[in-house]
Amino acid sequence: MIDRMSCGLMPAKPHTVLRDAEGNLLYEEMLTRGGFSGAFSYLYHRYPTTAAVEVTESKRGHAIAAEDPRGRTPLKRRLYDTRKLPPAGMPFECRIPLLFNKDLTIYFACPAHTDDVYFSNGDGDELWFIEEGSARIESMCGWLPVTAGDYVWIPRSLIHRWHIDAASGGPLRMMCFEAHGGAMIPNDFRNPIGQLKMDAPYTHRDFVRPEGPIASLAKNGGVQDGPKELIVKKAGKFTRLLLERPPMDVVGWEGFVYPWAFAISKYQAKTGLVHLPPTIHSTFAGPGFLVCSFVPRITDTHPQAIPCPYPHSSVDCDEVILYVKGNFTSRRGVGPGAISLHPAGIAHGPHPGAYEGSIGSTRTDEVAVMVDTYLPLSPTVQAVNLEDTGYHDSWRSPAPSGAKS
Ligand SMILES: [Fe+2]
Repeated sequence: MIDRMSCGLMPAKPHTVLRDAEGNLLYEEMLTRGGFSGAFSYLYHRYPTTAAVEVTESKRGHAIAAEDPRGRTPLKRRLYDTRKLPPAGMPFECRIPLLFNKDLTIYFACPAHTDDVYFSNGDGDELWFIEEGSARIESMCGWLPVTAGDYVWIPRSLIHRWHIDAASGGPLRMMCFEAHGGAMIPNDFRNPIGQLKMDAPYTHRDFVRPEGPIASLAKNGGVQDGPKELIVKKAGKFTRLLLERPPMDVVGWEGFVYPWAFAISKYQAKTGLVHLPPTIHSTFAGPGFLVCSFVPRITDTHPQAIPCPYPHSSVDCDEVILYVKGNFTSRRGVGPGAISLHPAGIAHGPHPGAYEGSIGSTRTDEVAVMVDTYLPLSPTVQAVNLEDTGYHDSWRSPAPSGAKS
């Protein structure tokens, strides 16, 4: 929900008659949030959206998060190596849950194939971060190209599917935040009329929007070809709807609810006289969580500054970081694709030597995505299976064998 967009055909006044050249009535759909009080979009379909010929419980869908007690006890710092995951499957069903609480479920996915069904997630907005690869997302709002380094926002209950771009030279590797209460731009970044402020870390122009409409009024056809199957997720259950025709029949739409992409390289980082707290890197937020972006930047300007993060006990937050690229200032033995969990209740901070070693440095080339959650996160069995069990002990000096210095 960045700003208002419109494309394609629509009547001059909402909720009035719109016909094609043959006199066929087009069908309006309102995609509304917050009941009918939040952001919304008008979608104009060639056919009624209610045309399903079969509705059954689906045998297909992704794994649902369930706690593995080994993942939380004892309370210690954890590291998960997503590089152990081979590329396989389709985005709607290959994503694996790693960490979750009532506000957020964090998945990782390495899909190798295009979705062969359409998918709609009624359990939350999906905020993805693409670590590697590229794809196109087909939705009722149009086509959205996405690539490595992009955040991708897919609104709750938007019918879509991912097309894997085989020409990108590799499979997708990506993290997903399923935000049960929604994921959005922090209110502090907007002025009273909703425009992004000049001191926000991004501008309206930084967001890539879908190219639409997806369908046309062509006499024979015009509906985007695709599967007739739609898998809907709600309350952790999957339902299969067999539709009369592929659902991509939208010839025009207008509103604030549409998918978008934002490249982390466009994030405008801030530098201070001395080390600024992680919240200065705020990017997206939702009830119970805050996503932050760490990007290459000049570090602190005070001649005696210690650029490395200070050890800290953030007593109200669990902290999760996906390391993407660069030499992360405060960590050793941690490479791209690693995800750390530093739980509230115990302190965390730089690895031995990093704090002292950062003195005098003037810039960092790190790229990482962090999420802080205000409720504790539960690791799943899938996370436990990816865990580097020596991570907590890697704060002992010297570094454990195999760790990079
Ligand atoms: Fe931290």
